Amino acid sequence: MLSEKITKALNEQINKEMYSAYLYMAMSAHSTYVGLDGFANWFMVQYQEEMTHAMRIYNYLKEQGARIELQAIDQPPVDFGTPLDMFEKTLAHEQFITKSINDLLTLANEEKDYATAIFLQWFVTEQIEEESNDNEIIAKLKLAGEDGNGLFMIDKELGARVFVPPAAEGK
Ligand code: FEO
Repeated sequence: MLSEKITKALNEQINKEMYSAYLYMAMSAHSTYVGLDGFANWFMVQYQEEMTHAMRIYNYLKEQGARIELQAIDQPPVDFGTPLDMFEKTLAHEQFITKSINDLLTLANEEKDYATAIFLQWFVTEQIEEESNDNEIIAKLKLAGEDGNGLFMIDKELGARVFVPPAAEGK
């Protein structure tokens, strides 16, 4: 049985994950618009991942018999600037999500809700990976600078990313 506070915070986290999905879908659309199909692919995979994060929390609330309350999703921006700007915004957003997960974990521990604390572990690990991926791409984009060939290579690399459904990766 989840407390009201935990239920509210997890419902809010669903909304943050849904906004993340929406944000990355918007970044994918922007990338397509400026002719960076590899970036568009990377962000569409990211969109799919975020949807699974939202569903992971949804299913946890469902298993716990808690009330699921879906909230309005904010409108994301349309234009994200250069590829470097876009990834810096992505990293900043993921840092915001990491803080949100950490706050949730602090709350679960304060409430002695160990089931939720264990459930949140997966997200703690996932956030390390997400920030690390973004940092890696930012480093490459900085190295490429204004070099069109470098950007072309990064676009090609990001185009190879494939969405792996949670069941297939044993999560
Ligand atoms: Fe679901 Fe990218 O955090």
